[in-house]
Amino acid sequence: QIINVVLSGGVGSRLWPLSRKSCPKQYLPIFEERTLFQKTVERNQGLCDELMIVGNQANYELSRKDIKGLGITEYFEVIEACPRNTAAAIAFAAFRSGPDDILFVTPSDHLITTGDEYTKSVERAIELAKEDYIVTFGLKPTRPETGFGYIEADEESVKGFREKPDLDTAKQFLDKGNFLWNSGMFCFKSQVFLSELERYEPEVFKRSQEAMAAASDGFLDQEMSMEIPSISVDYAVMERTQKIKVVPSSFGWSDMGSFESVFEYMEQHGYKADAQGNMIIGSKVHTEFVGLENTILVQTKDAVLVLKKERAQEVKKVFEKLEKDK
Ligand code: GDD
Ligand code: MG
Repeated sequence: QIINVVLSGGVGSRLWPLSRKSCPKQYLPIFEERTLFQKTVERNQGLCDELMIVGNQANYELSRKDIKGLGITEYFEVIEACPRNTAAAIAFAAFRSGPDDILFVTPSDHLITTGDEYTKSVERAIELAKEDYIVTFGLKPTRPETGFGYIEADEESVKGFREKPDLDTAKQFLDKGNFLWNSGMFCFKSQVFLSELERYEPEVFKRSQEAMAAASDGFLDQEMSMEIPSISVDYAVMERTQKIKVVPSSFGWSDMGSFESVFEYMEQHGYKADAQGNMIIGSKVHTEFVGLENTILVQTKDAVLVLKKERAQEVKKVFEKLEKDK
């Protein structure tokens, strides 16, 4: 069986104030009347046999509503009591599947152009996963983004994987030319992933296994979940495993992770910034920028964010501060 595992536990803190705790960005109906979450599920329907959502207490109702909206009635869900990051989230999905099931793991907050290129890449990844590889998808980088993982690639072989490098390192990677962005989607056999996780992060493996065994109806227990170390799959497995492969890909891909990505996406889709690189997102109020450059203004019903574009990663701190002050 090929299972599309949709990771939907992130809060989208770098897209505040568009993304809120009560409605993380993947559930905003901003693109062609579908949410990013729905678009994710939809694009993989024809490529996979089953669907599994790994979300959490705070958002599973939103996922259910979205899935119902697509007319899908059969799927599995894992509902986390608290976010324990992606290594654990994927482990839950793997423990919930058969050992030889192929998991096609996808984030729920990306915009992807579907079509032949996408289908070809996913089909190739599934082939490699059947041969017991842990497969990543590599995209040609367009800027020295520090929020992504980088894959040093020689065709489908991976010479190295480096998660979230600093700016200087990212610039060097771009200069070298054989580095690709990690798309954040992965494909592997359930048991292959679990044995690598056990090798490199035995505590995450063991605690996730225990938590999953005690879960009822896919709902995880809070106390047991708190025992699971919080680490992303990129650091836990991808940077370390020898079984890694990459499918160099050229489908249209955009991680709506930060306002820098949204800016790039909007530029490519006809919403131009002004001559100084300033852009307005979400506001219909007439706005002028004077003496500012590379500034993004974001407005919602009850909040305004004014941001220097290159500091888009730091919006997360605002979100965290507001959460703390509540
Ligand atoms: N269920 C669950 N539980 N899902 C989670 C959790 C969690 O605790 N934490 C994050 N997710 C979901 C997010 O909603 C998102 O869909 C996906 O997992 C990836 O998490 P991010 O937090 O968005 O990761 P990232 O963007 O910093 O980095 C990853 O994606 C990049 C590309 O977008 C890495 O894989 C990078 O290497 C990659 O370049
Ligand atoms: Mg992301």
